Amino acid sequence: MIDQATIDKIMDAAQIVDVVSEFVTLRRRGVNYIGLCPFHNEKTPSFSVSPSKGVCKCFSCGKGGNVVHFIMEHEQLSYYEALKWLAKKYNIEIKERELTDEEKQAHSLRESLFVVNQFASEYFQDILYNNIDGQRIGMTYLRGRGFRDDIIKKFQLGYSTDNRDALARAALQKGYKEDFLVKTGLCYRKEDGTLRDRFWGRVIFPVHTISGKIVAFGGRVLSAATKNVQMKYVNSPESEIYHKSKELYGIFFAKQAIVRQDRCFLVEGYTDVISMHQSGIENVVASSGTALTSDQIRLIHRFTNNITVLYDGDGAGIKASIRGIDMLLEEGMNIKVCLLPDGDDPDSFARKHNATDYQAYINDHEVDFIRFKTNLLLEEAGKDPIKRAALISSIVKSISVIPDAIVRSVYIRECSQLLQMEEKILIEATSKLIEQARETKFKEQQRKKEREQRMTETPAVQPSVPDTPTNEPQATDTTPDLNNNTPLPPEPTPANTYTSYIPAEGNEQKVFYAKEEDLVRMLIRYGEKTMCYIENNEGEQVPYTVIECIATGLKEDELQFHDPIHRQILQECEAHQHDPNFIAERHFIAHPDPNVSKLAADLVNDRYQLSKYHSKGQKIVTDEERLYELIPRLLLDFKLSIIEEEMKNTLQALTDPIVAQDSQRCMEIMKHYKELQETQSIMAQQAGDRVVLKL
Ligand code: CTP
Ligand code: MN
Repeated sequence: MIDQATIDKIMDAAQIVDVVSEFVTLRRRGVNYIGLCPFHNEKTPSFSVSPSKGVCKCFSCGKGGNVVHFIMEHEQLSYYEALKWLAKKYNIEIKERELTDEEKQAHSLRESLFVVNQFASEYFQDILYNNIDGQRIGMTYLRGRGFRDDIIKKFQLGYSTDNRDALARAALQKGYKEDFLVKTGLCYRKEDGTLRDRFWGRVIFPVHTISGKIVAFGGRVLSAATKNVQMKYVNSPESEIYHKSKELYGIFFAKQAIVRQDRCFLVEGYTDVISMHQSGIENVVASSGTALTSDQIRLIHRFTNNITVLYDGDGAGIKASIRGIDMLLEEGMNIKVCLLPDGDDPDSFARKHNATDYQAYINDHEVDFIRFKTNLLLEEAGKDPIKRAALISSIVKSISVIPDAIVRSVYIRECSQLLQMEEKILIEATSKLIEQARETKFKEQQRKKEREQRMTETPAVQPSVPDTPTNEPQATDTTPDLNNNTPLPPEPTPANTYTSYIPAEGNEQKVFYAKEEDLVRMLIRYGEKTMCYIENNEGEQVPYTVIECIATGLKEDELQFHDPIHRQILQECEAHQHDPNFIAERHFIAHPDPNVSKLAADLVNDRYQLSKYHSKGQKIVTDEERLYELIPRLLLDFKLSIIEEEMKNTLQALTDPIVAQDSQRCMEIMKHYKELQETQSIMAQQAGDRVVLKL
């Protein structure tokens, strides 16, 4: 972890105009700069950079943020990596935060495994370039396949000689621990306890993570050695750092091109990726011969919505892959399929065509996945009615998992034509499946709730009846996720004792959420500003800030923001508002938690001005000039809308069969509901007064 002082130093040094200028030609316009957006193709500039606020944003595609977000997006790096990138640019020495003992242990094992893999990769490359057999056998093979030297270097290909323990000996001699050699899978122990290399006699393909670290290797036998070896490829086994289902071969080399082209090609093998890359098509990754997993899909989804799957012309493997593709649809991706001419795979095709021709072939031959599947199955089923029925239900199933209703209906229309079936029947069948899926999901949740209930012997959802606040965080899945470095939950503070009947997620479209965001926007933009003056106990006029107004206003009615990040922002505002020189905008845009800083940048960035032309005579009154009336109004709006939402969900909770059997809980919920009702009526009155005032 980078310590806060270093982050601050980096944020101070990294001027947004300076950093963006490395990639975008900027021109001055007023107090800001503008240029062509690097995140999408455009002819007229809509990328705006504000040096004073330290943020940037494309007003066409919406991408942007502070300087770290810009680098994250542009270089496709993690938050941590982006900070390191900036530190390097500005010659800032990175001071890492002291890790806890537990963190250290987990950290050091993983780190050690990466270090050993890095060593091995360099070793295999050294053999390829400097060892006689490496040159004579390994390099000859790679060049013989048509790989150029620069590509061999770029993908860090290597070679391991026929010697059964050459790597093991070299590594031990350099002081690498036997344990790590075994844990990475580079070596294994024989029964007599001696070490044996896994990859002897093969050309080596290192597998990189999204950030370029080596997690695994694939080793291919050469034809000459194939005689007595069964497996064409040997791959690293699963390890502390390698989960095959979570990595995609080539993603590190492809990510920028994927973003730039807004499209990703999916192929089967190492050599397909490398050859396409060599021919100039760089937005390509491989699932390494297995069906795609949802983790891999999400990896691609971070960069684009569009996938084109490339298949060999002979059609082998097509059917097997189709099952995996429903998953892509489920994630809301647009999937196309492109069949290569008979006898060609993506690798051989790349060797025969340059990038332009390759691309043109794909553009001409790719078809939408649903259409592809329908035609394929239709051909196969012929006139056989049973097969046809099976085909229809399989297609309906694919369509039913598509999240977007409009996209679904387009497909239904098209398939009804292809299948020569009435649209109505397909619609009904799809709806039925959607309903079934919903029910299954509901039942699953129900079961989970019941399980949790049994475990805690208290109700699963614990909305706080106002006079008995609970310190329990909301019941969630408590299984520790070892692959996820989620920090430990923070100490309970008022902000995380929040409980509510409103579902934790998926509220972005709700009215109250927009109102909540309005308030957070005000906190970030104007939090420390004086909203008005009020009289204190001594009868003096003292400034009353936006933060104080919002915090007090919420507490008065025992309300809180629903979104945990919003709660965190308010809490930090309260904690820091009396710090000398505290400026909310600066504090949150440079916040160490990337989720917070991104939200802050977005809220500062959007051109949202509630009262753009609220003119008195000629003068335009800005939001900042009328905080005294704006904030109370937004506050009231928020309160009314969240109470309404809360009431709706509270009633809903009463219909839960588990609750219905528990009379005490029923009472509690009813009590909660009554209180909400009272608050609501008091507030409605205030709102009414406001309306009267306005008239
Ligand atoms: N694969 C594997 N183990 C095997 C066979 C295949 O892990 N025994 C994976 C590899 O990732 C391989 C991919 O499946 O890259 C596709 O397999 P295949 O088409 O047989 O290999 P290619 O990479 O195309 O290799 P080549 O062109 O050299 O035959
Ligand atoms: Mn091949």
